[in-house]
Amino acid sequence: MRRILLIVSGSVAAYKALEFARLARKAGFGVTGLLTAGGARFITPHALAAITGGRVYGDLWSLEEEAQVGHIRLARDHEAIIVAPATADLIAKMAVGLADDLATTVLLATTRPVLVAPAMNPTMWAHPATQANVETLRRRGVAFAGPEEGEMAEPETGLGRLVEPPTLLEAVRAVLGNGPLTGRHALVTSGPTFEAIDPVRFLGNRSSGRQGHAIAAALASLGARVTLVSGPVSLPDPPGVRVVRVESAREMLAACEAALPADVAVCAAAVADWRPATETAAKMKKVADAPPPAISLIENPDILATLSSPGPRRPRLVIGFAAETENVLAHAQEKRTRKGCDWILANDVSTGVFGAEENTVTLLTEAGAEPWPRMGKEEVARRLASRIAEVLR
Ligand code: C5P
Repeated sequence: MRRILLIVSGSVAAYKALEFARLARKAGFGVTGLLTAGGARFITPHALAAITGGRVYGDLWSLEEEAQVGHIRLARDHEAIIVAPATADLIAKMAVGLADDLATTVLLATTRPVLVAPAMNPTMWAHPATQANVETLRRRGVAFAGPEEGEMAEPETGLGRLVEPPTLLEAVRAVLGNGPLTGRHALVTSGPTFEAIDPVRFLGNRSSGRQGHAIAAALASLGARVTLVSGPVSLPDPPGVRVVRVESAREMLAACEAALPADVAVCAAAVADWRPATETAAKMKKVADAPPPAISLIENPDILATLSSPGPRRPRLVIGFAAETENVLAHAQEKRTRKGCDWILANDVSTGVFGAEENTVTLLTEAGAEPWPRMGKEEVARRLASRIAEVLR
């Protein structure tokens, strides 16, 4: 059994740690609970003990524990350490390397992968101090899950919510890196592309990147090494995934080619079909009484078609998306043949998919069309990842 240590710190989101512990145990993990003093103000050790089915730790000065050097044992006896929810205070202590209670001492004494799921007020998350601490930890190899955008306990919305327990479990799997896709490399494109008109203006589109990022996370949670080539999005990096940030279609193609070889490529990015034929070096000036400038467009490279073209570097499985508003299946089938990819996920975007939580897709393979029920983008990603795992196994 894979054992994880769950550190719960003092946030109103601490109740979700109980739900996470329940899910993790159901998924076959052994979970040990550790409550900080703040964490114990929100949930009781008894609740955590009942759900983890073991004892709950919290006291650095417990004679009984420390006779066996308890903090070192806790740091070493688990395959990963999960801090959820993680407060701004605990993140700051980790960044500085303080060790003034059991949680911080264990975090300083461990060589295991550490996954942090922050939960705090959006202003606290956005504060340069917190952002600098997060950056420090990321550079040290600490993985982050979230925070997510949404409603806070206080009547406020923003970036700061703890990720939902199923997403956290996925992140744990990614950090542990063992599953049916272990040893495989997956390349995923996501988000829009921005095509420069001049140094300040661009042509772009409304893709949020949610579906592509969810696919990257789902593939990583099955153990794949994932390279996510992403256009400009305002989403957190999926845990355990290497993210290459690009702007234009040409940069996206170059980043994809540099990431090869890959066993599977999933092109979920909304790549601009055209770009301005010329990018002016200086900002275009508005001249009084002059007619507005005409922007002529030229075609962008097709990344999906390029990755699908036969050759030694072609991934074994290349998958594209077809966003259509009418004759969805016919257009998608035509796209599959024309671009030379193996599978196409066809989605009807006439019902408002951009930026939305849910998606209705049909999977087109060599065997035909398979409609999936309407489901969350995370669920679409999990389904697709497990289908990919079946083929690459
Ligand atoms: O032709 P269309 O843009 O509808 O095709 C959509 C599919 O092709 C998506 O999988 C998208 O990621 C991919 N694509 C691409 N490069 C382009 C245009 C589309 O990879 N230039």
